[in-house]
Formats: sequence, C-alpha cells, structure tokens
Amino acid sequence: GIVVSSLLRDTGMVTVDPGFMNTASCESKITYIDGDEGILRYRGYPIEQLAEHSTFLEVAYLLIHGALPTPAELDAFEERVNRHTLVHEDFRTFMGTFPRHAHPMAVMSSAINALSTFYPESLDPFDPETVELATVLILAKTRTITSYVHRASKGEPLLYPDYSRGYVEDFLRMTFAVPYQQYEADPVVVSALDQLLILHADHEQNCSTSTVRIVGSSQANLYASVAAGINALSGPLHGGANEAVLKMLTEIQANGGDATDFMKRVKDKEPGVRLMGFGHRVYKNYDPRAAIVKKSADSVLEALGHNDELLDLARGLEEIALSDDYFISRKLYPNVDFYTGLIYKAMGFSEEMFTPLFALGRMPGWIAQWREMMTDPQTKIGRPRQIYTGATARDYVGPDAR
Ligand code: ACO
Repeated sequence: GIVVSSLLRDTGMVTVDPGFMNTASCESKITYIDGDEGILRYRGYPIEQLAEHSTFLEVAYLLIHGALPTPAELDAFEERVNRHTLVHEDFRTFMGTFPRHAHPMAVMSSAINALSTFYPESLDPFDPETVELATVLILAKTRTITSYVHRASKGEPLLYPDYSRGYVEDFLRMTFAVPYQQYEADPVVVSALDQLLILHADHEQNCSTSTVRIVGSSQANLYASVAAGINALSGPLHGGANEAVLKMLTEIQANGGDATDFMKRVKDKEPGVRLMGFGHRVYKNYDPRAAIVKKSADSVLEALGHNDELLDLARGLEEIALSDDYFISRKLYPNVDFYTGLIYKAMGFSEEMFTPLFALGRMPGWIAQWREMMTDPQTKIGRPRQIYTGATARDYVGPDAR
C-alpha cells in the first residue's frame, strides 16, 4: 500500500512506495511490457518476432536509435563495433591484476568503469558524437571483457579479436578457442546465444536500468552509469538469479532430486528457500522470454547431445508450480532466468559466467535508456524523499554520561 505523509512541509504531500511498486520514474519510448498479458515489445516490435528474425547487433541498433537499420546502416554499425573490439595493452595488464577466484561480475563492472580512464575523449554526456563513440566502445569492449573474465577464471590468456567474424561468433571463439588452434563455433550455439542476448537486451525500468538512469541523472558518464547497472544486476533477486537457479537445481539433485519436498520447503517459506527463476514484479503471466527460452533449451540441449537431468528436474518443478495453489494465487510463473542457465551450461559456460552473459545482453538497453534520459528535457537529478522515523531532537551526552 501507499503511505501518505504530510510531514514534509517543503514539498507538500509525499508518498512512500517501497520497491517503487507504483512509481513511474520516467516516460520512455523504448520498451513496452504488459505484465498481465505477458507482452514484451522493443520499440513496438514483438519480442517473439525479433527473437526469430533479428540479430543481437540489429536489436542493439533498434533499441539505441529507435528504428530498424537499413542494410547499409547495419553494416556500418557492425563494422564500427567490430573495429573497436581490441582493448589497449595497458588495459589487458590491468585486467590481469584481479585474483583468479574473483567473481566475474565484480571484474566486469570494474573493467567497464575503468574503460573511461582509457578513453577520456568519449566522456561528454551531451555531445552526440562523443556519446555515439562511447556507445560503440562499450558494446565492442564488453564482448572482449566478457570473454576475458571467462578465460581469466581458468588462468588462460586473452585472445585477440578476429574482425572477419560476427559479434556472437567471435565472442564464442575468444571465449573458448585454444590459442593458435583453429576454432569453428557450432552454428546451433551461435544462433541460440544470439537469441538469448536479444531476449535480455532491454526490460524497461528494472532494478539495474533504474540504477543506470539514477547514476546518469547526476550527469555521470556512460561508463560510470552502466558499470553501476552491472553491480545492480549481480544480486540474486535480479540477474544473479540465473546462477542461483542452477545452484538450486544442483542442490536438489544432490539431495536425492525430490522436487515435491523442495516445493514444500518453498511454500513453508523456510528462510532462504525460494523457487529461484520464478516470479516477477511486472509479469503476472508467463514471461514471454521464458517461453522462448524453454523451447530453445529443448532444441539446444538435444542438438548438443547434452542429456541434462537438471532440465528434467526444472520441468518437474515448473509442472508442480503451475498446478499448485501457492504459485497460482500469487501469479508466480517462470521468468527469463529459469531455463537460461541450463543452456549456458550446455554451451560450456561455468555458473559464474551466467550473469555476465546477462550483462552482455542488457548493455544495449542500458545504453539506450541512458541516452534517452540525457536528451529528455524532463530529466532531473534522481533524488527520492524519505519519511524520517528516527529520534526527535536530543542533546549530545559525553561518554561518561552514557
Ligand atoms: N518462490 C516462492 N515464493 C515467491 C517467489 C519465489 N520465487 N517469488 C515471490 N514469491 C512470493 C513471496 O513470498 C510473496 O508471498 P506472500 O504474499 O505470501 O508474502 C509473494 O510471492 C510476492 O512476492 P514479492 O517478493 O513481494 O514480489 P516482488 O515483486 O517484490 O519480487 C521477485 C519479485 C524479486 C522477482 C521475486 O519473485 C523473487 O524473489 N523471485 C526469485 C528470484 C528471481 O528469479 N529473480 C529474477 C527476476 S527476473 C530478472 O531479474 C531478470
């Protein structure tokens, strides 16, 4: 509910809205969600059509520039992103200084923030050419950084980009290839990963995107703003859920694979026990992204010959949930994170890489939202109010009198 207070005399009435359940922070033309109907559209285009026909860089262009590119525009955009994929040698050295066991999300946010120190010519938030340069640099180098965090966690060297390959194909090569050996990415994996990145590319004012906007509202540069978004995404209630889902499935399996017993613990609200990958603040119907991912999990795992018992377990948990009153009455359905981890695992990614892959996919959305805000005359610095509930005025007492 909303608590209304008239205590703040300077602004009149103030609403308390924990979790911003009822507060729109902005107007936006980028992404439309109808949570009751399970509808998601980027710039008006249904997610199902984009997932089937588009590519990640085309969707990035669409989100950022507002229209699907002509073939010439897309070529130029892809060429520009490709050309900037290499990182500065000093940046490589910097990346090598993180401990091996560091969580990739911590490395990733630090790395994106650090990029700003290498490209001081791309920091002005109000010059359109500079913003376009920062956009291309971030899209290009996030791919390199994401592949690097995977390799670094295994003690392997960073591979240089191959400009003749596409964005996703070369990302897979940079991530998985053995140095000096030929690597051809499996086309099934390339198109499945491309589709997953499209599905993650934007989701209006979620926790990380709101973070990007609030940091940017102080006129902080694009790198600082999206690095903050990565940190917001890392939590298990947000992007970190994909990693948490696989941990949950593995744990249930290790304890004998009893889905019914686990669901009882969820419904009994045992501390710390939630059905991860289920529920959403906005979707009160099947998450349309989850429907696409579920289909893809079936076909990708089959094509890769990856017979994963955890997929059966996940399906079993979903089946119980969809016919159980606890979940039905609360309108809890699988969200995008429920099946993604199983696909990433089959592709060869470790659990810790799942959320970085989400960040790689969400980057165009964060950039588009930041750019929209920066050019919106309505934008003001984000500065919520509070209702103070602490002590009333009192006098300081020295240590001896306490
Ligand atoms: N398992 C069990 N119960 C749940 C779950 C779940 N996954 N999600 C919500 N509930 C229950 C809550 O206990 C609460 O029950 P109550 O009314 O009896 O107290 C009710 O459903 C409402 O839940 P809230 O936490 O109030 O819903 P909110 O909108 O604040 O949270 C959230 C949404 C954070 C996504 C929540 O559903 C959750 O924690 N899910 C698991 C984590 C997850 O998958 N996160 C990924 C979200 S999608 C994304 O970020 C890409």
